[in-house]
Amino acid sequence: MKLDRRIQNIDDLRRAAQKRVPRVAFDFMAGGAEDFVTLDNNRTVFERIRFRPHTLVDVSNRSTKTTIFGKSFDMPFGVAPTGAAGLYCHRGETAIARAAKAAGIPFVLSTSSFEPMEDVARDAGGTLWFQLYMSKDRAAAERLVLRARDAGYEALVMTTDIPVPANREYNERNAFSVPFKLNLSNMIDGIRHPDWLVNVLFRTLWHSGVPRYRNLDTEVGGKIIAKSRSESRAHRDCLTWDDVRWLRKLWPHKLLVKGILRPDDALAAREAGADGIFVSNHGGRQLDGAVSPIEVLPQIRAAVGPAFTVMADSGFRRGSDIVKALALGADMVFVGRAPLFGVAAAGAPGAARAIEILGSEVRRVLALLGCTCIEDLSPDYLYCEALPELQRLAIAAHSGRIELLKTKQA
Ligand SMILES: Cc1cc2nc3c(=O)[nH]c(=O)nc-3n(C[C@H](O)[C@H](O)[C@H](O)COP(=O)(O)O)c2cc1C
Repeated sequence: MKLDRRIQNIDDLRRAAQKRVPRVAFDFMAGGAEDFVTLDNNRTVFERIRFRPHTLVDVSNRSTKTTIFGKSFDMPFGVAPTGAAGLYCHRGETAIARAAKAAGIPFVLSTSSFEPMEDVARDAGGTLWFQLYMSKDRAAAERLVLRARDAGYEALVMTTDIPVPANREYNERNAFSVPFKLNLSNMIDGIRHPDWLVNVLFRTLWHSGVPRYRNLDTEVGGKIIAKSRSESRAHRDCLTWDDVRWLRKLWPHKLLVKGILRPDDALAAREAGADGIFVSNHGGRQLDGAVSPIEVLPQIRAAVGPAFTVMADSGFRRGSDIVKALALGADMVFVGRAPLFGVAAAGAPGAARAIEILGSEVRRVLALLGCTCIEDLSPDYLYCEALPELQRLAIAAHSGRIELLKTKQA
């Protein structure tokens, strides 16, 4: 699909997506929980942090490369897990994963993907991590984890911020459901979006049936022989740190805990055996009123120290947002909606365009900041007048990181 030349940033992709897909699908992707307080704060918080650039620095050889778990990536950001990507593009998960591979960045596949994890691994390649929604049904979790291991996923991301389904009232109003169902109003809306109807819905119906979650059900030769979704979703409100410890024993590679917003929970994750965390409020889709990652990153970095891997997601739409989080102590940033807006706007080329936009923005911001590489980013480049405590904590946490670098180099 051809991309409109007027698409210059992630918000342009969002607008194009809104035109192309029916309301039921767009709202599911773009909306937050309840009154969108956290969703909005995830964006406005960046405006309260400004840059203090250096001038006259030779930035001609600047690099956006970053190393996570001993592996080098071309950009300091990756793709966060987003369920139901297949609702926006036929084989949407594979399309985004391929774009991530081409850009040299990691891709996290959701448990709630519309494609089986084995298909994505086979057809996309690149650095693939698997996101796990687990329930009290440990046998079901074990099946998923072992499948992810066998399919070659390199890290497991356990999402912890969804003990119960969030209150997203528009989904009720729009009668959103998975497996995707067409009611009268969805049908009329679908007809008014013919490109989506033909190239996404009909194509998916033709190739793999009704759009649905394809990791939880046990399929043999395309036929569902065991449905586990309903009970898997139902009993997530009893999970504890014991479940992280249990996963630690089961999973042989890197383990990350997603949905951390407090320093004490970050420490608990590390104590339970995690190799890293995602500081995340699920893109404002879970607890409305929850803090934004950028507000708590410095405290969390200060608590876990310089060596523990800290990712951040929620609200990132600009390269400058990514650079701010890295300067405040994140090792890498993950974007959820940005590539999703891309595939919804224009299929596979849209995903690639979203990643390209963010990558070129990061590169440009580094130059304008007078910073030559990602490791050199620090709170010293930031000015947080409205958030003085944040600035203080960020600087304290950063000096710990500098000490660690010095010890490593010595
Ligand atoms: C449509 C959609 C589906 C999502 N599905 C999942 C999921 O299946 N598992 C998960 O851990 N997070 C899921 N998330 C949350 C993302 O992983 C990530 O935390 C969030 O999107 C980051 O915020 P951003 O969209 O503002 O970049 C989803 C987000 C969206 C927008």
